[in-house]
Amino acid sequence: MPSEEVTDERSNSGASAVRYEGATKRYGDSSVAAVDALTLEIPAGEICVLVGPSGCGKTTAMRMVNRTVEMSEGDILIGGESVRDRDAARLRREIGYVIQQIGLFPHRTIAQNIAAVPQLLGWKKERTEARTAELIELIGLDPELGGRYPAQLSGGQQQRVGVARALAADPLVMLMDEPFGAIDPINRERLQNEFLRLQAEIGKTVLFVTHDIDEAIKMGDRIAVMREGGKVAQYATPAEILMDPADEFVEDFVGADRALKRLALMRVADIDLWKAPLAYVGQPTAEVRAKLASPDVEVPYPLLVDSERRPLGWLSERDLRADVVPSRPDSPLGPLLDRDDVMRDALADLLQGEAQYAAVADHQGRIAGVLSVEIISEFLGSPEAKTEEHGAVERPHG
Ligand SMILES: Nc1ncnc2c1ncn2[C@@H]1O[C@H](COP(=O)(O)OP(=O)(O)OP(=O)(O)O)[C@@H](O)[C@H]1O
Ligand SMILES: [Mg+2]
Repeated sequence: MPSEEVTDERSNSGASAVRYEGATKRYGDSSVAAVDALTLEIPAGEICVLVGPSGCGKTTAMRMVNRTVEMSEGDILIGGESVRDRDAARLRREIGYVIQQIGLFPHRTIAQNIAAVPQLLGWKKERTEARTAELIELIGLDPELGGRYPAQLSGGQQQRVGVARALAADPLVMLMDEPFGAIDPINRERLQNEFLRLQAEIGKTVLFVTHDIDEAIKMGDRIAVMREGGKVAQYATPAEILMDPADEFVEDFVGADRALKRLALMRVADIDLWKAPLAYVGQPTAEVRAKLASPDVEVPYPLLVDSERRPLGWLSERDLRADVVPSRPDSPLGPLLDRDDVMRDALADLLQGEAQYAAVADHQGRIAGVLSVEIISEFLGSPEAKTEEHGAVERPHG
């Protein structure tokens, strides 16, 4: 059983805003900055994705936060406090870090890997063990695997352990550098969904690096599109970036340009929607969890519907911890779209509602599927969308 103390540590209060203030990095005596006067504010509890071409400075920008790379100029504040004023070794332990190659210690068991930072911080044995057990459960790993070595786990399981290890000491900030880059597409999708569910519960401030725009759009509350030299081309919500790319570089990167205009000529019904895992009031939550575990689930949260299959809201991880599905879901429904809506308006509704996805209803108000910013982004990137359109339609503005 986790102690009171450990349970408290998981509350959402343990997240801090991160502010880059003209943070600059020049490696060695290079005259060109790898990251040039980066200024960016990441609100506490949000996922900020840094996305951009290889070598544009994403990893450098991220590593300046925990000072595994030392800044040349400028500053980074965590919860208002400069990282420069912090002891670098201590700072490193207080910030969760997940790297692409996972980096588990091969000769330590899974449990010992997860306990690494608490041990460094001098936690008592019982507290460390309780926290380790709690995290193994949180990431959905069989407790028996705790005694195995990393090589005895699948890539996806190892990746989960990497996330658990980074979360172990309840960090104020999480740095995740292409955390799912080495995983096959099907498992990557599953890990992304798992992480989003976990994040809805733990509410960490997360810096997430990827070079995949679709992953950025799926995972980010905000996205910083970076260009060569660590300059931010645009910093906005996923929907804003799709609707109104700041310049040609961003347009090219999201594959928008002409395809965006095509959205004005399409209806929601013209695109393949996602199927929502449905949940009914009073249904055992075990049944809903079983649905979520299925590999073809694309929406990370279950949609609560009434007996007529009319959407009521989204269930959270907390809702799912009860025995039966509650009548009042944790999260409001958000925008409800209609199959006949014009795609560009649907995207605008998502933008307005600051939502990553929304339920789509048919004429009777029954659930017809789910439209996500990710579906639109994939559509914009597809060759089909890039074909020239005859109708002249203006560029949408926010
Ligand atoms: N230790 C280093 N010494 C010198 N130059 C470096 C060092 N690390 C990175 N660089 C240079 O700084 C620039 C930014 O590198 P960085 O690793 O931050 O890019 P990135 O956006 O993370 O790229 P990728 O997507 O390939 O991981 C690159 O030009 C790189 O060559
Ligand atoms: Mg990198």
